[in-house]
Formats: sequence, C-alpha cells, structure tokens
Amino acid sequence: MPLVAANWKMNPTNEDDALDLVRGVLSVARGHADRVEVAIFPPFVWLSSVGAVLAESGVKLGAQDTFWEMSGAYTGEVSPAMLKGWCQWVIVGHSERRLYLGETDEMVAKKTAAALSSELGVIMCVGELADHYDAGTSDQVVSAQVKAGLANCSADDSARLVIAYEPVWAIGTGKNADPEHAYKTMRLIRRVVGEMIGAGAARKVRILYGGSVNSKNVQQYVELPLCDGALVGGASLNAEDFAQIVKVTAEVYGHR
Ligand code: 13P
Repeated sequence: MPLVAANWKMNPTNEDDALDLVRGVLSVARGHADRVEVAIFPPFVWLSSVGAVLAESGVKLGAQDTFWEMSGAYTGEVSPAMLKGWCQWVIVGHSERRLYLGETDEMVAKKTAAALSSELGVIMCVGELADHYDAGTSDQVVSAQVKAGLANCSADDSARLVIAYEPVWAIGTGKNADPEHAYKTMRLIRRVVGEMIGAGAARKVRILYGGSVNSKNVQQYVELPLCDGALVGGASLNAEDFAQIVKVTAEVYGHR
C-alpha cells in the first residue's frame, strides 16, 4: 500500500490550529484508508491531542524525530520507548536536522535501529544538496547516506522501513525534482537497500519522494513504478491540498 506522510515540521504554533488541520485532513483521508496509508507527523507537543483526534480512524500518527537511547540523562530528547505508546511512525535523518543540528549518518543509523527495535515504523530521509546535483554526484551522496543509515538494519526490518528521497534543493523551494531524476535515484536506493539487507527484503521497503510535492504535481511521482508515495511538507499544512494529494494517490494506486 502507498504511504502519504504529512511532515508538519515546526507548525502550527498553537493547538487549536493543529486540531483544525488534522480534522480537515481526516474528513477526506479516512475515506481512502483502504487504498492509501496516511500518516501525520505533528510537533511533539501536539502528538497527544492530534492522536486523540486520529484514534480509530485508520490514519496513523508519527513523530518527527527520536533519540537512540531509551532513557537516561539526555536533556531535551524523546526516546523510541516513549513514542511507542503514541505513534506508529517516526521520521529520522531529515535534511533540516542534518543541516541545522549537525546530525550525522552515524546518528541517523543509531536512531533508525533504536526506533525499529521499539517496533516503530521508520521513514529515513536521504537526499543530495544542490551542489551535489549540479556536480553530478547525487548518486554517490545518496547511496552513501542509505548505506550508512542502514548499517544496523536487517531483512527483518523491511516491512517497517521506508526511505524518503528528498533532494535538499527541492525542499520548500517550489522546484520539485524532475520525475526522471527521482525515478533513477529511487532505483539506485532500492539497489543499495538490497545490498544492505538482501534483494528480497528490499522489495518490501517502501520508497517515497519528497520535495515541493503538491496536489498538482503529486501524480507524476506516484505514477513512477518504484515510488510508493510521498513525504509532504508545506502542502500538508493546508487540509484541502493534503487531502487532494491523498485522493490523487488513491486513484493512481487504485488503477494499478
Ligand atoms: P516541502 O514539501 O515543503 O518541500 O518539504 C518537504 C519535506 O521536507 C518533507 O519532509
């Protein structure tokens, strides 16, 4: 089943707006729950109240990050053991964390393994910078990120593992990647995942595209043979837009 994920990032700034947004999404998304898995990733502080709205709807809840230890003296961090009761999913390795918080591939690998060991589904983000894209080194950068991020994973993790290909230059810029570039990179990702956990298991790993996805361009990605859905930032903050993305995805996969 395809996955459409809403990464709200550090939005909205108050709970009423968060609840309005999730209610708006839910009114449409629940009608497609049999064809598209939908997951909402609010900021930590709204997990509980957004989760209460989603309860029994079939729409999943996720956290935008987690730490690699389960408990201890790690000020400000939230562990997979804590999230387990609230969430089904967690995002790790988002480029904004790599960029603004100095997250390394090694940290991403530890977070991925810790979240999987707590039975959370993991969306691990990878993607090249504009400089890499311009220099023609996207493949090397992305395959190194995938290899390093999956260092502690095995075939048993495949059903709960998702890789989001998010070219950094496409995030929040309105410059969504050319579908041909996205396709080639996703094909590479699938191959590298196969090298890490075995080709059979790699087929179960879902691969998403992210980077300026909106209701008008989503179809060209979800139609790609190797694409299992989308990770949406800006457009997920508008209930109608995001609902339309879910609807388009449901239609495309309904015809497969
Ligand atoms: P935008 O959809 O705003 O480009 O963000 C993509 C993203 O970073 C999702 O994780």
